[in-house]
Amino acid sequence: MADTTLSNRIAIVTGASAGIGEAIARDLHAHGASIVINARRAEKLEALAKSLGSRVAVVAGDAADDSTINAMLDTARAKFGGGSREADLVVINAGRGLGGTVITSDIAQWEEMLRTNVVAAAKLIRAAGQRLLKEQEGKQGEALLDRARDIIVLGSTVGRHVSPFSSMYGGTKFNVHGMVEGVRREIGPRGIRVSLVEPGFVVSEFQGVAGYDDAWLKGVWDRIGPVLTPADVARVVSFMASQPPAVHVNDVMLRPTRQDYP
Ligand SMILES: NC(=O)c1ccc[n+]([C@@H]2O[C@H](COP(=O)([O-])OP(=O)(O)OC[C@H]3O[C@@H](n4cnc5c(N)ncnc54)[C@H](OP(=O)(O)O)[C@@H]3O)[C@@H](O)[C@H]2O)c1
Repeated sequence: MADTTLSNRIAIVTGASAGIGEAIARDLHAHGASIVINARRAEKLEALAKSLGSRVAVVAGDAADDSTINAMLDTARAKFGGGSREADLVVINAGRGLGGTVITSDIAQWEEMLRTNVVAAAKLIRAAGQRLLKEQEGKQGEALLDRARDIIVLGSTVGRHVSPFSSMYGGTKFNVHGMVEGVRREIGPRGIRVSLVEPGFVVSEFQGVAGYDDAWLKGVWDRIGPVLTPADVARVVSFMASQPPAVHVNDVMLRPTRQDYP
């Protein structure tokens, strides 16, 4: 790791009440970052905040609501940025899966998934990006790299490799993949790193929320396991964020070693 301390960073992590988001919040905090944690289940966030002690603020609410997005960014600036510095390590992780395909999945869950995986991600990329761009106004050249500024989004291997068994969920992650690379090209030149992390199978609450068929899942995991843990993903995020400001690890795919596909 280039710089193992993130002690000068102000982070936001969405979907931090469980799984990958919780592990990212813990790892960033362990490396010294101040963190604003978000998810809908306030009691889980409060328990996490309590276990971490200082340098944590809780903003509970739906990550797609404008009020939640503004509250996360305002809290980060007010509590950890001395009222003027914006959050500079925004991890857009809140999301959900859905078993089945465009043909077979439960259509009643489509809108919630699209809202969380795509609309919430786009809104926070936009709001955080606008604020960080404002901080960069008037600067040129190396002055734009006075400190690291990151927006890191959770994609998926099924957002890069077309899978016949998750075309609906995979479609949301293809969206995120394209959006992140487009925004990277747009605001990277202004010193803001916009990055994608694309994990394969990770054990978390994800599989239950998605409603995967137990026998199918057991078959996959027996074949490719052991699968990744949330801490494996968190280590990668901390590695990306801790690079010097002039270095951008913009896209990482990580899989269980025995996962051949997707
Ligand atoms: N697990 C995998 O195999 C895998 C693989 C590739 C990519 N991913 C991606 O990684 C991310 C995290 O997944 P995970 O495996 O950690 O799943 P998880 O254990 O189910 O955690 C999902 C988190 O997102 C939060 N969340 C869901 N909807 C939300 C909303 N509308 N507003 C705010 N928070 C919301 C949940 O908290 P609340 O219920 O408290 O709101 C929870 O904290 C997702 O984007 C997922 O697509 C997962």
